[in-house]
Amino acid sequence: MVSNMRGRDFLTVHDFSKEELYEILRFALQLKREKKAGLEHRLLLGKTLGMIFQKASTRTRVSFEVGMFQLGGYALFLSATDLQIGRGEPVKDTARVLSRYLDGIMIRTFEHSEAEELAAFADIPVINGLTDLLHPCQAMADLMTILEQKGKLAGLKLAYLGDGNNVAHSLLLACSKMGLNVAVASPKGYEMQATIVAKAKESAVASGASITLTTDPLEAVAGADILYTDVWASMGQEAEYQLRFKAFQHYQLNKQLLKKAADNAMVLHCLPAHRGEEISDEVIEGSQSLVFEQAENRLHVQKAIMAMLI
Ligand code: CP
Ligand code: NVA
Repeated sequence: MVSNMRGRDFLTVHDFSKEELYEILRFALQLKREKKAGLEHRLLLGKTLGMIFQKASTRTRVSFEVGMFQLGGYALFLSATDLQIGRGEPVKDTARVLSRYLDGIMIRTFEHSEAEELAAFADIPVINGLTDLLHPCQAMADLMTILEQKGKLAGLKLAYLGDGNNVAHSLLLACSKMGLNVAVASPKGYEMQATIVAKAKESAVASGASITLTTDPLEAVAGADILYTDVWASMGQEAEYQLRFKAFQHYQLNKQLLKKAADNAMVLHCLPAHRGEEISDEVIEGSQSLVFEQAENRLHVQKAIMAMLI
């Protein structure tokens, strides 16, 4: 059965059932195959997406804009510094005004509550393009890449090394929902938020997944099918860089750690990457790295999300 997700927001993967997430992933894989076969779609003909950016972006901006174009729609880049929001116009007013012009909004911002407020006051779907708390579209591209490469999700082991940040939160929520076993190694003081872990544990009970939280990278990567890492200092944390660099130095995804994973383990990174910090150049450029396939899949999975929600 195909669920009707029309009109819903995409703020967190946790709001969607396992079956709904599978439907999005299957549709994304179909759209990817069809695009490569030269088949064009006009699923969003005449529809417009506003893209609000309070932070920098390469992948999110380009993949949403191109994705909208490929589906027959139109996307507007709305830099927060140029919007009245940057001069103090309330989010709730912006939401109601934009709802009169647009068919959907994508927002990248700092406070997750700002995306939630926008969604609460907008009567069109709001898609989270990254907040300090979550990065759900990234997690969907991650799942898509794993499914595409491994042919399944449930029962695989994913190891995440490093900061308990937005990418880690959404990845944990997504994997626990789909039945992937997750092992996370973070230094003390940089663990994931307890509220997110609690939600993931609820999902894990239903899916049969396991969640292991440790400070030991070796324990996390042992036998893993997927190895994942992200930057040590996220956007907005630039001032903590020196401190973080010290705390994370034993958490680099390098050849020694890769050897402890399963033989055909795949290496993922949401990008942008800092070579020589969270990942070695050798590993990100190595044959097990699928980071550019993963980046490409942002386009396909977001097209599926937009086509199903807007
Ligand atoms: N992975 C990701 O979201 O990249 P951008 O910051 O370039 O959008
Ligand atoms: N955790 C990173 C992800 C960038 C896509 C950040 O928030 O900067």
